[in-house]
Amino acid sequence: MSNVEQTLSIIKPDACERNLSDKIKAIFSKNNLSILKSKKLQISKDEAAEFYKIHQSKPFYDQLCNYLSSGPIEVMILEGENAVTKNRDIMGATDPKNAKDGTIRNLFGISIDKNSVHGSDSVENAKIEIKFFFK
Ligand code: CMP
Repeated sequence: MSNVEQTLSIIKPDACERNLSDKIKAIFSKNNLSILKSKKLQISKDEAAEFYKIHQSKPFYDQLCNYLSSGPIEVMILEGENAVTKNRDIMGATDPKNAKDGTIRNLFGISIDKNSVHGSDSVENAKIEIKFFFK
């Protein structure tokens, strides 16, 4: 049975800065994730804090919010069969050191902060995250 989902993807400042958007989008396309909407923007630290509030108790929260607001990002709604899980598989582990060969973070990630992409971790969070960027 088909299970078409939507998920939110963010190309983070480290990847935007290195002009990796087209390469990353080609990986989505190769994996049958289509880009429904896309925009480039820079968010404030307050907006980053709101977006990542699920992590507010974590020791890395402040650093994370500083980082996401440090430069331009590209946000996208991806759609496809099992899009949430598929996107997370394609991204690879959070820490690029642990990301499997061929995943986006393995290919392009620099560190656990500069890990090139974000992807929603559940269908429920995807809805919240999509609403955050695409009202
Ligand atoms: P992301 O998928 O965007 O979700 C939260 C981000 O926090 C994560 O990617 C990492 O870039 C960042 N982060 C920084 N330090 C850690 C850590 N110790 N564990 C998990 N995520 C971390």
